[in-house]
Amino acid sequence: MSDFEQWDDPQLEADLWRLYRDFFDKAERKRRWCIQTDIPWIDCNKKLNPAIADIVESFCVVELYLPDYLRNAIPKSRPSRARSWFYANWGYEESKHSLALGDWLVHSGMRSESQIADIASQTFQYPWQVPHESLIAMVAYTMVQERATALTYRNLRHRVHDDRGDPALEHLLMRLAVDEQAHYSFFREFMQLFLKRDRDGSLEHLRRVMHTFAMPALHLLADSSQRIAQIKEFRIFDEELYFRDVYLPILESLGVERSEMKNRVSQPKSAPVGVGF
Ligand SMILES: [Fe+2]
Ligand SMILES: [Fe+2]
Repeated sequence: MSDFEQWDDPQLEADLWRLYRDFFDKAERKRRWCIQTDIPWIDCNKKLNPAIADIVESFCVVELYLPDYLRNAIPKSRPSRARSWFYANWGYEESKHSLALGDWLVHSGMRSESQIADIASQTFQYPWQVPHESLIAMVAYTMVQERATALTYRNLRHRVHDDRGDPALEHLLMRLAVDEQAHYSFFREFMQLFLKRDRDGSLEHLRRVMHTFAMPALHLLADSSQRIAQIKEFRIFDEELYFRDVYLPILESLGVERSEMKNRVSQPKSAPVGVGF
């Protein structure tokens, strides 16, 4: 039995339920937004650099893999009301992200409705597989991925602003970054519960996840190497940004020393840097 099903600590469930209620109540009060009415679609810039639209499309693809993320997360969360309720809410929020990015691609004239439908259908041809078979590792993985995604949307918003600007896309990317940062905070606090219960065991998972991290799903597409090259060229996300803005801040906020991240079997010679994609 994997630790996904081993959910027999009432204190852990109670602590996670409290985290979930805080997360949900705060989202209801401060973070809900409406795709149709909160984004100034009228201000789409039809003259934006087409390379930026390609990058928006790439992240729309990552968000379109939602069925695979939920297919793995929801059934395994059955023993925990806190985990089940969280994933139901998380899935709703993530579902808005691909919708909104797709809507921008159409409103801006960069893609047609049928092109968006083609992209969505491609994601069903190549399913995404969970990268880790342990709950603790998957909580660590999602924590890192959420932080990386928040950063990605922030960086993309800066590139849009520096290019020719697009108030609709900039506003949308700001909303997405706020959502992703809230998801990151939830998973980080979840990880902290594991560290409190079993620091050494949790650090083993954290080390493995953070030293091999790759963004989900992007490598599954036929043209993935071009997409990844574009994301790096525009300095949206790369190995250096991962180390500086994801790896180090996560360790600091978890209260984990870099010395604790050294592999006990073989010590890395240089600073550990995630793969990035
Ligand atoms: Fe998202
Ligand atoms: Fe997210």
